[in-house]
Amino acid sequence: MTKESDIITTDRLILRRWEESDADDLFKYASDPDVGPHAGWPPHKNTEESLKVIQDLFSNNCTWAIELKETKEVIGCIGYYLFGMSNIDIRENDAEIGYWIGKPHWNKGLCTEALQAMIHYCKEKKNFDVLWADFFVNNPASGRVMVKCGFEDTGMMNYCSHLMHGENTPIHIMRLNLAKYIDTSEMCSHLRKKLMEPDGIYFQIWQTVKRDDSLKAVVRNRQLHIYRDDKKIIVLAGKAQPKVIRDDELCNLIR
Ligand SMILES: CC(C)(COP(=O)(O)OP(=O)(O)OC[C@H]1O[C@@H](n2cnc3c(N)ncnc32)[C@H](O)[C@@H]1OP(=O)(O)O)[C@@H](O)C(=O)NCCC(=O)NCCS
Repeated sequence: MTKESDIITTDRLILRRWEESDADDLFKYASDPDVGPHAGWPPHKNTEESLKVIQDLFSNNCTWAIELKETKEVIGCIGYYLFGMSNIDIRENDAEIGYWIGKPHWNKGLCTEALQAMIHYCKEKKNFDVLWADFFVNNPASGRVMVKCGFEDTGMMNYCSHLMHGENTPIHIMRLNLAKYIDTSEMCSHLRKKLMEPDGIYFQIWQTVKRDDSLKAVVRNRQLHIYRDDKKIIVLAGKAQPKVIRDDELCNLIR
């Protein structure tokens, strides 16, 4: 039975444990040749196979069905692998995230919404140190979801021979240090772009905040408040000018 604490809700989604009755929804989306192979697994051939996947692979504490609140349909899956199960050489208190969304629901921000919620859960409830994720080089949409959620490209590539197409297609390895994670789900989208896009005007500031341990940032009223040694130095907004509270070398990075 699903425990209350296993359910994660967002504006549009409910992340919950898989149930055997989800087999039809799973087959509907997982039989699509544009879904599984991008994540390294073959399309499902029939509902029986989908049911077996639910029973054998999805019935655990690390895997969630992604249910669309509006229709109550299961449209995807998200979860994490622990040390020893991961595609990547992770440490004991790390986890590797994986996900997929059914094709009719792509490019509506749903995976980003699910991943942000999962990151929050991993930080607050699981206390992992680092989250890892990877994507095939020919699957930039997945990399984009990771970047939007704060993952950084480690520059490392790998081959995962146990994945479908994994022997020939390298994966990019992405990393998110949860100690420095800033939840941007409530942040103004203009500001998110200015901070997180490599050509954004605050990109250097964003990088510095994540590197420098004396700096801390929180999102409040959709703006980013940055502190050095617990003293507020600057507030960045999506459209308004930056508000400098006190002189700091970080302010020199405003373009
Ligand atoms: C990858 C996947 C999960 C993304 O789900 P989604 O709900 O469409 O993701 P979102 O809408 O939150 O974000 C998608 C982003 O990718 C971008 N994108 C889409 N196609 C792209 C492409 N060909 N190149 C670059 N970016 C692309 C979108 O524009 C969007 O970014 P934006 O918000 O900056 O515009 C979904 O496509 C999927 O399930 N694919 C098949 C399985 C898979 O790849 N799983 C991940 C394995 S690592």
